[in-house]
Amino acid sequence: MRTSSDLLDLPGWAGAPIMRPMQDGTSDRVPFPHRHLLGIEGLSPDEITVLLDRSEAYVEQNRQADKKKSLLRGRTIINLFFENSTRTRTSFELAGKRLGGDVINMSLSTSSIKKGETLIDTAMTLNAMHPDVLIVRHPNSGAVKLLSEKVNCAVINAGDGIHEHPTQALLDALTIRRRRATLQGLLVAICGDIAHSRVARSNIHLLLAMGARVRLIAPATLIPSSVERLGVEVFHDMNAGLKDVDIIMMLRLQQERMQGGFFPSVREYFTFFGLDYAKLANAKADALIMHPGPMNRGVEIDAEVADDFGRSVIREQVEMGVAVRMACLEVLTENLDRPELRNL
Ligand code: NCD
Repeated sequence: MRTSSDLLDLPGWAGAPIMRPMQDGTSDRVPFPHRHLLGIEGLSPDEITVLLDRSEAYVEQNRQADKKKSLLRGRTIINLFFENSTRTRTSFELAGKRLGGDVINMSLSTSSIKKGETLIDTAMTLNAMHPDVLIVRHPNSGAVKLLSEKVNCAVINAGDGIHEHPTQALLDALTIRRRRATLQGLLVAICGDIAHSRVARSNIHLLLAMGARVRLIAPATLIPSSVERLGVEVFHDMNAGLKDVDIIMMLRLQQERMQGGFFPSVREYFTFFGLDYAKLANAKADALIMHPGPMNRGVEIDAEVADDFGRSVIREQVEMGVAVRMACLEVLTENLDRPELRNL
């Protein structure tokens, strides 16, 4: 079976379970045996479940008046964003601060990148300041992995080009799991601009790993040609693709990544691929509606459908995002003290 990294010509990365020898001769299984979180591809269902289970406690903590813990006291987290972001950057910042860490946001408009410094030079410079975790978003697929190979700290991929956005898939999974108890056996439709979506790629890996069935619905121009090999079904008609689905994930039309005409007009795109009540009627009556944001109302989703809070869980996704990122920071900083993970 081909992987999405093959489709992008990137090497895959899979981690074998790691056992730590204990003093009494037994071994203790490392719950999340990776130094970095670069993607969902290659993670086992157990590793995904560890991250989701740890997130649950943080959902409760974040609903309390006192949201702060001192778990990351003394730790330095740098948010390094080479692309604009509102919710993901804020979500990581809150996650780091609520765990008691020091969080620094790198403002790239004033950084040396604009003066011609390379990605690697930036990584080496930051590395010299001894951060514990670097959270990186970059417009090029594979750039975050490259950077992770040059630094001593843990790296979290906050979105690299059209490749992966692992914390988005984890927060989507947590949202679904809290509503439906399990992902196993659910029928999930991912709709819209699949071709340019790292959210779609990470979700495909996670959903298939956890035993869900995945349908992709998009015009032929917005879907990678060999994507069926990942084990998904492809539809070019919303009414057919949405038939009896449990979950609908809508994606933004990422026009900033498009060169040339991928669809005739926004109006025509909405007519055929925008989620409105007429198309929604094909799905199960209690189907959940999801969107990673930012949303383009009237382009990929009807404004009323987006605000139909009986079924739309878009705001819950944002809430789950902070909890998931706290869990990822917790697990990766625990691993900083495990030298056997150095090369993972
Ligand atoms: C997504 C992203 O940046 O990949 N947004 C997000 O992280 N919330 C999806 C998008 O930009 O459409």
